[in-house]
Amino acid sequence: MNCPDLREGLFESFEELVEIEVCLSRAKVPENNKLLRCFQYIKMDSVSVGDYCWNGECTNCQIWYQAQNGEIKSGLACRLYVWPGMVITGLSAALKTDLAD
Ligand code: FES
Repeated sequence: MNCPDLREGLFESFEELVEIEVCLSRAKVPENNKLLRCFQYIKMDSVSVGDYCWNGECTNCQIWYQAQNGEIKSGLACRLYVWPGMVITGLSAALKTDLAD
């Protein structure tokens, strides 16, 4: 991770990091931010230059997550806000590639 908090204006304001689960791995990401920004926080270099429109049109940021009632739903990471303890069970091919180690 390369000091993403130094990139002023990139993230919506946050006081702390929240823990989420991304395909069985735990990660700490900025609260009050959309998931695609959180993924960028995790992998700044690859997500920043990934093939994403950031505005709900390309669907390259599709994810599957556990809703608060336990149901698995799909959504767009550029539209959904993170919440503490969020469990993400699946990622689009683009996100899988960009978030890979
Ligand atoms: S980045 Fe294109 S739909 Fe989310």
